[in-house]
Amino acid sequence: MKHTAALLTALALFTSACGPKAGDPDPEPDPEPVYAMPELLGPGAVLEDTNPDPDIVEVTLVAYEATVDLGDGIVFQGYTYNGVVPGPTLQAKKGDRVIVHFENALPEATTVHWHGLRVSDDMDGSPRVQSPVEPDGTFTYDFVVPDAGSFWYHPHVRSYVQVERGLYGALVVHDPELDPTYDAERYLVLDDVAVEENGTLSPNVIAGMDGMHGRAGNVLLTNGTSVPTPVDVKEGQVERWRLVNTANARTLVLSIEGAEIRVIGTDGGLLETPYWVEGLELPVGQRYDLEVSYTEPGETNLLFHTLTYDENNNAVPVAIPMFTANVEATGENAPIILWPEVPAIEAKAATRSDTITLDAINDPTVGLQWRMNGEAHPEAPLFTFGEGEVSDLTIENLAGPEHPFHLHGQFFEILEPAGYPGLKDTVLVPGGSTVKVRAYLDNPGRWMAHCHILEHAELGMMSEVVVTPAQ
Ligand code: C2O
Ligand code: CU
Repeated sequence: MKHTAALLTALALFTSACGPKAGDPDPEPDPEPVYAMPELLGPGAVLEDTNPDPDIVEVTLVAYEATVDLGDGIVFQGYTYNGVVPGPTLQAKKGDRVIVHFENALPEATTVHWHGLRVSDDMDGSPRVQSPVEPDGTFTYDFVVPDAGSFWYHPHVRSYVQVERGLYGALVVHDPELDPTYDAERYLVLDDVAVEENGTLSPNVIAGMDGMHGRAGNVLLTNGTSVPTPVDVKEGQVERWRLVNTANARTLVLSIEGAEIRVIGTDGGLLETPYWVEGLELPVGQRYDLEVSYTEPGETNLLFHTLTYDENNNAVPVAIPMFTANVEATGENAPIILWPEVPAIEAKAATRSDTITLDAINDPTVGLQWRMNGEAHPEAPLFTFGEGEVSDLTIENLAGPEHPFHLHGQFFEILEPAGYPGLKDTVLVPGGSTVKVRAYLDNPGRWMAHCHILEHAELGMMSEVVVTPAQ
């Protein structure tokens, strides 16, 4: 038997000696081409993947205090991921394993939450499941990204302070099979910050107006700057823009002038059927993916709409550009992008229905408290679902201010109001109104359910639901 092995080795050597000589064409079949992620324009920094395995993304994320310069004289000692605001973009492709070596060099405890990713609950950054990472502590987040789309990451401890001071970053999961190819892809991370006369951040408070409506900034930010530099593009080009609103509270009312836009994706990834729009409302936490076709030369502007008041106290609409593209004339027509066959959301009937009420009380001892089902910071889970259950969830906003309701670890569809197709993880519930969603409880674990107005969450609108694993 030993002979045979030796003979085989000799044969192998012989074969290789007779193999191709230098200069011969390479006889090996080309290896599977490695998927190259599209370049993402927008926040400058990208997390560097140090793992050679094409299916593993391994990065280092350090939270620390640093000087933050938002332009226009706005400079302050902020909180950063890897020294920049927004934090560096994390990119992966669907199905990848992502390993994040996280270090906390902040003077306070924190966690990292991967907003919208259906990871396991011990990797979700919920301080109810993971003990927060203390100053000088480390934690390794290690999870698989099951869904493609536009996501973001941010802390889940005192987030009304930590996010406002600069802790947030974009997270993109590409889909090599379905993602259409565009002339360019951008991530526009939209925010507002509250700034004092001297250019520093206003102190965070959770009382008064900020407690009631959440902290409204007086300066708009796009990718961490209040003065975004216009970019140069060409007539006839088509781009994919990913938008996220990372503000503490403000819903952004947006439009795009000078281009044609269709909504191609939402929180849960690409839509089966894109639809054309002229504008959209982007509550905090939500994302939209837009296809932007530059159909006319001149300027394309992403506009933020609000009201100001003139000397007679009449409301005057104003539109403030948050992003500008200078479109060079080419006479070219923008091509129609053939839409890929995005699978329809599997139609599943509800197995139960549930209700969440949102309201507030003014507690004489502790002040304003925001409540879910009649309780601020309820300890017990709001609901216990079985894995695979489908809940028609009615969310009733019994008070005045709006609440962007966010559920971790699962997706839902918005049933009412109509007109919001696709899978979502965040839905705006306007003051005094009721919203209905169909939630797919597919991911077992303990999951936070809360208002994404960070001051409301801090003042009690923060709860948990449980999804028990199927046997
Ligand atoms: Cu974007 Cu519980 O958070
Ligand atoms: Cu709220």
